[in-house]
Amino acid sequence: MTAHSAITRLDRALALEAVRVTEAAAIAAAKWAGRGDEKAADQAAVDAMRTALNLLPIDGTIVIGEGERDEAPMLYIGEKVGAGQGPKVDIALDPLEGTTLTAKNMANACAVMAFAPAGGLLNAPDTYMDKLAIGPGYPEGIVDLDAPPQENALNLARAKGVDIGDLTVCVMDRPRHEKLIAALREVGCKIALITDGDVAGVIHTTDPDADIDMYLGQGGAPEGVLACAALKAVGGQFQGRLVFRNDDERARAERCGITELDRKYGLHEIVKHEAIFVATGVTQGVMLDAVHYDRGLVKCHSLIMSSSSGTVRDVHMRRPHPAKA
Ligand code: FBP
Repeated sequence: MTAHSAITRLDRALALEAVRVTEAAAIAAAKWAGRGDEKAADQAAVDAMRTALNLLPIDGTIVIGEGERDEAPMLYIGEKVGAGQGPKVDIALDPLEGTTLTAKNMANACAVMAFAPAGGLLNAPDTYMDKLAIGPGYPEGIVDLDAPPQENALNLARAKGVDIGDLTVCVMDRPRHEKLIAALREVGCKIALITDGDVAGVIHTTDPDADIDMYLGQGGAPEGVLACAALKAVGGQFQGRLVFRNDDERARAERCGITELDRKYGLHEIVKHEAIFVATGVTQGVMLDAVHYDRGLVKCHSLIMSSSSGTVRDVHMRRPHPAKA
């Protein structure tokens, strides 16, 4: 079976099933929203996601998860998940993307997962990645990770047909980005600073409602792969390069099978086959609503994106709370 027909089968059979997995994680994590306990929020999401994942009719392998086997008892890299029968898929997941956002009840925390036929996702180590993303509709190559940020901003403004002062670049608010932010401000860009959650930051470049033209800066490499699964469905450009702070991080990459440590990856090298991306909001976000409780019901909001067809499904779920037996 070709990778394309495998994902078509996967898509039809699993896209709607998969959303149960992120819904379960989001509902569990949301109980901890605003309670100041990041670990409890994350643990609740991990437990719920793993239970739901093991009900899916897949022969799944986690390629991006909670960490390496000796550091993460559940949802670790290499863990076999799913009910065992069904297509062989590689899975990238983050049961709670934005643990601090959840603990502080701030915007854009979500539960997120991506699937592809085995071998379809870059097995990114748990290191940082330099990232650049723009939304769909621009010619290939108008921005480049190796170009100065000012040049990328000017090129993008020109391609969009706007003044540089009308261009908004999303950057994580970190000391490591001081120079980047200064360079962008020098040419007159608006900077949208986020405290956490760069899966959403990258995907926002594809959503006109988010008003983000470009994402730049260093965030988690696993989060880069997850965001790319969404961009592969809705379009847009992404480049990333792994960043290593020490030999331990280089060794992690080697254990993931990465040999060219300084390689610049494009979107289709990170998500090599067609993929399904699923996310459910935990706290209120630009694209996803928060989990909330209303007159005996729990409600949540998810997105399912399929790159084989470019379909985006907006899924609103509600059920009695507590769940009926
Ligand atoms: P967690 O959900 O694991 O806390 O990650 C949140 C996050 O903000 C990611 O979105 C981002 O890629 C990464 O952390 C950035 O890492 P750091 O906080 O070390 O700058």
